[in-house]
Amino acid sequence: MATGEELIAAAAAHIRAQSVGEGSGHDWWHVHRVWQNARLIARGEDVDPVVVELAALLHDIADWKFHDGDLDAGPRAARAWLLDAGAEPALADRVADIVGRVSYKGAGVPDDMPSLEGRVVQDADRLDAMGAIGIGRAFAYGGHAGRLMYDPDDPPVRHDTAEAYVSSSGATLNHFPEKLLLLRDRMHTATGRRIADERHAYMEAFVERFLGEWQGEA
Ligand code: ADP
Ligand code: NI
Repeated sequence: MATGEELIAAAAAHIRAQSVGEGSGHDWWHVHRVWQNARLIARGEDVDPVVVELAALLHDIADWKFHDGDLDAGPRAARAWLLDAGAEPALADRVADIVGRVSYKGAGVPDDMPSLEGRVVQDADRLDAMGAIGIGRAFAYGGHAGRLMYDPDDPPVRHDTAEAYVSSSGATLNHFPEKLLLLRDRMHTATGRRIADERHAYMEAFVERFLGEWQGEA
C-alpha cells in the first residue's frame, strides 16, 4: 500500500500531466490553487489531511459537464486511479465520494456534502471561482464555450435542477447572479467564509462597473 504522502505526490504529477494547457478553466493551475486553498482551510478544521489533499487534486479528474452529464465519471476515474496507485479501498471510496459531490449544480440545488473533508475541498474549489481569478475564469470559460460576454435581452435564470444548470447557454455575465455571487453564502468553513467575503465584494464591484460602462457611463 502506498503512503498518503506518496499518493499525494503521484496524484499531483498525474493531474499536472493530464491537464496541461487545458483552456476551459480546469487547467493544472486551477487544481494547484484549489490544493493550496484546501490545505489552508484544513488547518482550521479537524480533518484527515490526506483525504482533503487527494480530493482537491482529483476533484476535476473527469468533470461531469464534459462527459455528457455523466455524474459518475469523476468519482469513477478518481477511485480507479487511486486503487491503481496503491490506495486502500476505504481511502479511495472517501475521496471518490467527495469528487462526486463537489460541483455546483444550480442556485436551486442544495449542496449535499456530508464529510467535513469534502466541505473543505468544496470551499477551496469555490474560492477559485470567485474574485479576480474567478472573473478571469468565467470569461475564459465563456470564450471557450462561444458565449457572449453580456446580452441585455437575456436575463439571468434560477436553475432548479443540475440538468437545467448544465444545459444553460446564457451570456457570461449571467453566471455572476446564477452562481458566482451565490457562493459566499454557501461557504461551509470559517476560513472559506473570510476569504469569500472579500472576493464577493470585488465581484459585485466588477459587475456594477461592467454594467455602468456598458451603459456608457464615463
Ligand atoms: P468548479 O471547478 O467549481 O466545479 P466549474 O467546473 O463549474 O467550476 O467551472 C469551471 C470554471 O468555469 C469556474 O470558474 C466557473 O465559474 C466557470 N464557469 C462554469 N460555467 C460557466 C458559465 N456558464 N459561464 C461562465 N463561466 C462558467
Ligand atoms: Ni474545480
